[in-house]
Amino acid sequence: MDFTLSEEQLMIQQAARDFAQNELLPGVVERDDAQKFPAEQVKKMAELGFLGMMVKPEYGGSGLDTLSYVLVMEELSKVEAGASVIVSVNNSLVCWGLETYGNEKQKQKYLTPLATGEVIGAFCLSEPEAGSDATSQKTTAIDKGDHYILNGTKNWITNGSSASTYLVIAQTDIEKGHRGINTLIVEKGMPGFEIGPKENKLGIRSSDTHSLIFNDVKVPKENRIGDDGFGFKFAMKTLSGGRIGIAAQALGIATGAYELALKYSKQRKAFGTEISNHQAIAFKLADMHTHIEAARHLVYKAAWDKDQGNNYDLSSAMAKLYASQVAMEATVEAVQIHGGNGFVKDYHVERMMRDAKITQIYEGTSEIQKIVISRSILKN
Ligand code: CAA
Repeated sequence: MDFTLSEEQLMIQQAARDFAQNELLPGVVERDDAQKFPAEQVKKMAELGFLGMMVKPEYGGSGLDTLSYVLVMEELSKVEAGASVIVSVNNSLVCWGLETYGNEKQKQKYLTPLATGEVIGAFCLSEPEAGSDATSQKTTAIDKGDHYILNGTKNWITNGSSASTYLVIAQTDIEKGHRGINTLIVEKGMPGFEIGPKENKLGIRSSDTHSLIFNDVKVPKENRIGDDGFGFKFAMKTLSGGRIGIAAQALGIATGAYELALKYSKQRKAFGTEISNHQAIAFKLADMHTHIEAARHLVYKAAWDKDQGNNYDLSSAMAKLYASQVAMEATVEAVQIHGGNGFVKDYHVERMMRDAKITQIYEGTSEIQKIVISRSILKN
């Protein structure tokens, strides 16, 4: 494995870094405070090609590899994880799923506007009683010949109100268990589809998270992705790639907090010298740097596996598990290094600490990653 970045990857990384510094940083505290969706910034990210990074150009995407996507996720997340999750869901969970498993008609109709960022998408799996236990879908999609009738509620849906295209996972035949689940493409505005109230969250507050309510929504059968009963496997396969994006987000949050702490420690004086000259601080920085570098290797390895066509279920789960743990540790330490200043919003690290927590929860909690990892190592 050679993770030396190509000229193209370095350019993309720099473009994302410049965008994050110039366009995300200026309003990040206010958006976090007000839970304000970064609409203008999403539009600009679409222009930069960040919303359909791995989609083929013939469907409006940038045609890049997974490592380039990881680099962008890392840079955006160093500054605003609320914005980077929008990018992650659109790329990994919606565009990738549609491009990989959708038919030509679905790709023409839905993928192209999603990849160009003309619209954004949402991935709707979680329910009030089916978060980790994803096979226990209570939302039903009853087969009525040429259409399905969709009923139920989805919870904690990223891009819940800002999306236009929703991939909804629902149970068609309870007798068949996970083999009776389908994924349907649902459009905003379909009669009976309601967007529930916005969640008031601890972190990633600029992204919009909602419950969704489906009341007898008529969804044409041509909107089903894959064969009848493929919906659960679709969700699992898609989430494996999604975890690489979230691992990169966690890595970016950790790196952003570390870089701020490093800079602060060289400026702030206590006991007659910069605090970085005290081992109590220098050792924290050494640990943070080491753990972040280890996380980076796991995240890049998972991206490399995906780009090589290797199975990446194990590497993506390990990357997400470890990077999210490092994000939590590094942000807590960054607040500690900042002392009292770390506890106020202008120094950014308190927001990063709040943002870090979700990386241990969404797209599978840390416990779910351990299930995936342990099953993988025990079956060999
Ligand atoms: N690829 C392909 N197929 C897979 C698979 C994968 N990665 N993982 C499982 N499957 C298949 C299995 O092979 C099995 O099929 P067969 O019976 O035909 O062999 C079927 O799916 C069921 O698998 P399991 O028996 O392993 O299912 P389980 O009930 O034990 O659960 C689980 C497995 C890993 C715990 C799964 O439920 C899971 O990943 N849960 C977490 C869900 C999750 O990540 N939710 C996040 C919501 S999305 C989100 O957060 C987005 C956002 O807003 C940012």
